[in-house]
Amino acid sequence: EEETRVVVSDEEVEQLKQSLPKELSFGKLELIKYQGFWYAVDTDLFKTSLMFQRHFSAKDSDLIVASFPKTGTTWLKALLYSVVNRFKHPSNQSPLLTHHPHELVYRLENDIYGEAFEYPRPHHLSELPSPRLFHTHLSFTTLPETIKASRCRVLYIARNPLDTIVSFMFFVLKPLKMILGDDFQPTIQDFFEDFCAGKICHGPFFDHVVEYWKQSLEQPNKVLFLKYEDLKEDPTFQLKRVAEFVGMPFSCIEESEGAVEELVEMCSINNLKELEVNKTGVINKIHDKKSYFRKGEVGDWSHYITPTMAERMKKLMEEKFEGTGLSF
Ligand code: A3P
Repeated sequence: EEETRVVVSDEEVEQLKQSLPKELSFGKLELIKYQGFWYAVDTDLFKTSLMFQRHFSAKDSDLIVASFPKTGTTWLKALLYSVVNRFKHPSNQSPLLTHHPHELVYRLENDIYGEAFEYPRPHHLSELPSPRLFHTHLSFTTLPETIKASRCRVLYIARNPLDTIVSFMFFVLKPLKMILGDDFQPTIQDFFEDFCAGKICHGPFFDHVVEYWKQSLEQPNKVLFLKYEDLKEDPTFQLKRVAEFVGMPFSCIEESEGAVEELVEMCSINNLKELEVNKTGVINKIHDKKSYFRKGEVGDWSHYITPTMAERMKKLMEEKFEGTGLSF
């Protein structure tokens, strides 16, 4: 029986924090590097990630959304939830109308194993209906072995790094000011530099994306790799890929009745953003529910990122993606 009980002692966490490599993000925010990826020191996330790594037990039927922050997680959660549960509710009674997507697909290393949980969570993970839907920001290599060893499936969403940086900047400004004080006034250049240096929570970004990309090529039935930009361009086609991947393809009748488009519309940012449930309240005590729905556009970076920065990113992408076949 799985439980969310504590299996990682505070002493061990403190010892690790002392001994692990450290860096300052924005010259202020302390990060530690564990198994190749960065964690913010002044949050519970490091501890709860260890708990997730050591205690989670995957089921073959589990479906796990994986992502780097700000790459379209909320959207993919809504889409996956809608596809998997589409026979359970008439579309005008979708739980998406009354719950934020983050309340329907729990984040393993934070919601399930963390304490900052605002909404009712199951005491036992086994209480969740099958297939269980989860989310994680952990990199593929740092996922618990049970996820890799079982037949559970992973759906990864990736996004152009420049749009990811801009989205990240808008999302974290307020919470960062809460931690670092009001005189903390970072510029886009600050975000850009730290991002490129990999110094960002869950980063380095490029390692995160390339790991999942390689897994999706090596194990196409295990890892589905989706791009935010492809979803924007042809959401219907991409949603059909999702449905097939999770073993619930749309039937010809559903397709002819417009069921795919109906789900796409339900999960569109314009629809979700206008729902009362997504306008007020917070997620994990610090993030306004509405802050997960900003613009939802491809190429919004061009309003903030200078041509010089864009040119640098282009070179960095060429270097980091060389030989992988991956591009944005
Ligand atoms: P922008 O800040 O560029 O608008 P995440 O869910 O991983 O935190 O990513 C958030 C980004 O996805 C934000 O991007 C947000 O606006 C966008 N987003 C949220 N819901 C969306 C949806 N239903 N469709 C498209 N984009 C969405």
